[in-house]
Amino acid sequence: MRFPLTALFSLAVGVQAALTAAQSLESRCTPSTFSSVIPSNATLIYAVPYAENTTFNGTVAVGPAFCAVYVNVTSSASSAFEFGLWLPLDTWNGRFIAYGNGGFIGEVAWTDMANGLSYGFAAVSTNTGHNSTENTGAWALDAPEKRTDWGWRAMHGSVSLGKELTTAFYNGSIAYSYYAGCSTGGRQGLKSAQMFPDDFDGIVAGSPAWWTTHLQQWNLKVSTYNLPNDAPYHINESLFSVIADEVFRQCDAVDGLEDGIITNPYACDFRPDTLLCNSTVANTSTCLTGPQIDTLYKIYGDWVDVNQTFVFPHLTLSSEAQWSIALVNANESDPSGIDYARYFLYDDPEWPWQDLDYATVQLADELNPGNATAWDYDMSPFYEKGGKLIHYHGLADGSIATGSSIYFWNHVQRALVPQGVPVSDFYRFFLIPGMQHCVGGVNDAPWYIAGAGQGTGFYSVPGYMDAQHDVVLAIMNWVENGTAPDTIIATKFLDDEPDEGVIVQRPLCQYPALAKYVSGDPNVTTSFECEEI
Ligand SMILES: *[C@@H]1O[C@H](CO)[C@@H](O)[C@H](O)[C@H]1NC(C)=O
Ligand SMILES: *[C@@H]1O[C@H](CO)[C@@H](O)[C@H](O)[C@H]1NC(C)=O
Ligand SMILES: *[C@@H]1O[C@H](CO)[C@@H](O)[C@H](O)[C@H]1NC(C)=O
Ligand SMILES: *[C@@H]1O[C@H](CO)[C@@H](O)[C@H](O)[C@H]1NC(C)=O
Ligand SMILES: *[C@@H]1O[C@H](CO)[C@@H](O)[C@H](O)[C@H]1NC(C)=O
Ligand SMILES: *[C@@H]1O[C@H](CO)[C@@H](O)[C@H](O)[C@H]1NC(C)=O
Ligand SMILES: *[C@@H]1O[C@H](CO)[C@@H](O)[C@H](O)[C@H]1NC(C)=O
Ligand SMILES: *[C@@H]1O[C@H](CO)[C@@H](O)[C@H](O)[C@H]1NC(C)=O
Ligand SMILES: *[C@@H]1O[C@H](CO)[C@@H](O)[C@H](O)[C@H]1NC(C)=O
Ligand SMILES: *[C@@H]1O[C@H](CO)[C@@H](O)[C@H](O)[C@H]1NC(C)=O
Ligand SMILES: *[C@@H]1O[C@H](CO)[C@@H](O)[C@H](O)[C@H]1NC(C)=O
Ligand SMILES: *[C@@H]1O[C@H](CO)[C@@H](O)[C@H](O)[C@H]1NC(C)=O
Repeated sequence: MRFPLTALFSLAVGVQAALTAAQSLESRCTPSTFSSVIPSNATLIYAVPYAENTTFNGTVAVGPAFCAVYVNVTSSASSAFEFGLWLPLDTWNGRFIAYGNGGFIGEVAWTDMANGLSYGFAAVSTNTGHNSTENTGAWALDAPEKRTDWGWRAMHGSVSLGKELTTAFYNGSIAYSYYAGCSTGGRQGLKSAQMFPDDFDGIVAGSPAWWTTHLQQWNLKVSTYNLPNDAPYHINESLFSVIADEVFRQCDAVDGLEDGIITNPYACDFRPDTLLCNSTVANTSTCLTGPQIDTLYKIYGDWVDVNQTFVFPHLTLSSEAQWSIALVNANESDPSGIDYARYFLYDDPEWPWQDLDYATVQLADELNPGNATAWDYDMSPFYEKGGKLIHYHGLADGSIATGSSIYFWNHVQRALVPQGVPVSDFYRFFLIPGMQHCVGGVNDAPWYIAGAGQGTGFYSVPGYMDAQHDVVLAIMNWVENGTAPDTIIATKFLDDEPDEGVIVQRPLCQYPALAKYVSGDPNVTTSFECEEI
């Protein structure tokens, strides 16, 4: 259902006024309000009101007063997922938002929910069906149902039931439903668009881990380039900054501006051999040996395997500052990225990394554990129902190679252009020069767009709370007003602290365009224009 905005506002106020007359929302925040919509396969764990300016669970600062609801859903005989739902008591905007997760984490995204509440949303997030930190997949051992919860079921189930609980609480319907997530959260967003196109009106998918079956093997593959740790070709992490310095020396000016931001890493023809140790520079803490340069070529090269089959794209130039994620292995028996093969594919905690080959990728493609991979490129059902998708990815991502998002965009074009679907009418993709994985930037690259996971202790873009700067407001403006974002302005705060002020802002352009410097102060948006690459 569509309401004009003014009507919507009065609708939300109207719902609350009607309820206030009968019963305040605070007093309605009890299990009995929700009991009629809790199905037999779920248990309501709590429904408790919190006053303004609470610190939830000892760690998360929350501004608005809200009703905190927590639910446990039995999803099979051997699995259950939990979700949190936060309902603003005084400030509901009539809308619903779901937030995604990161890595293999089994924990509700409380910080994002706090931000969602500040916008006025009723906000939901799930633990994805297990309890763990981001980097461990051990919970998936011999647990196909838990993999399914992580793959899609916990998100869809939390959204479905979360909407019903929201409607029951306010005694009024939800006007619009949104989604925001990054990394695994980006994957969850794309998966929702593909599998449950009716779940959301608007989706913001950041740096998505969408190609699960290939990405997870590539995470391991990259780490094996640098194993064993005592090999002559091993690159110690102390050399990453040496490599980065050379990358910036060769590539920074290629975009016309020497500013510590490599706008288009793909446009630089980087020569690693300039790093070679020689007779004058022989100190191996400032130069690389021939075998180490070979490793560098692998890192900057796509993974292409048997029969010239493309498996996964390379890490980008300028991602070096984040290479500790991919290339630093605490020990050889447990390299980074191995958990998917061990716990999702082979059900063998002792499976050794030396066994990784193309057959591992083929097995993953065949099993696609948990049906997690978001590879249904024909997203016409989401388009046809009027859904909108904003997708973004940092160009200095050291965790998920940026090219995987470009590959996704290309394949959606391939699926939809022949059908006559005007893709940019519902799906826009923005590359963020200098942004690392979901958060953070290299040098002074502006990266902050109020995406999921980006703001801790503040929400939206302080000082610029509008659809030009805030990707959540941008998707709302697109869904509700039909105003599609041509650009999004990324912001860099000094020390990434809004209180310290803005130092750089730059437009992000719709792929395949990037911002090109024209003239004037390089720290202001008007000095750039979008140009196709
Ligand atoms: C819910 O709304 C309906 C009408 O829309 C009204 O009849 C009913 O009393 C309301 N319930 C509560 C608990 O306020
Ligand atoms: C909560 O914090 C805000 C911002 O600091 C402040 O304006 C408001 O008065 C506080 N509310 C209460 C009830 O303390
Ligand atoms: C959730 O429900 C499952 C049964 O489906 C149960 O095993 C589990 O202990 C419950 N979790 C919580 C936190 O209540
Ligand atoms: C729980 O039960 C409801 C109602 O029977 C059903 O629609 C839903 O799919 C079930 N959820 C799960 C996760 O099995
Ligand atoms: C606090 O967070 C932990 C970890 O996510 C979770 O297990 C627990 O249920 C949370 N407490 C509440 C009140 O939700
Ligand atoms: C989740 O794991 C944490 C850390 O291991 C533990 O403190 C917490 O009790 C667990 N929560 C549940 C619901 O099992
Ligand atoms: C797997 O997900 C796709 C959508 O991505 C869906 O079409 C398909 O039905 C799902 N398969 C199963 C077995 O759930
Ligand atoms: C490897 O890098 C770490 C972190 O920078 C440093 O502490 C260590 O000394 C380096 N080892 C060698 C052999 O250079
Ligand atoms: C040795 O390497 C340094 C630093 O890369 C370079 O400046 C210098 O020209 C090289 N010397 C020779 C003789 O190649
Ligand atoms: C590679 O190509 C050959 C010849 O077409 C084929 O027999 C073989 O199965 C292919 N291998 C893989 C892993 O696809
Ligand atoms: C829709 O457009 C109006 C007028 O520009 C604006 O005030 C409002 O904030 C927009 N709504 C959304 C959800 O962005
Ligand atoms: C642009 O911002 C950077 C980072 O704060 C600063 O070093 C530089 O001097 C600024 N340039 C101009 C022209 O103001």
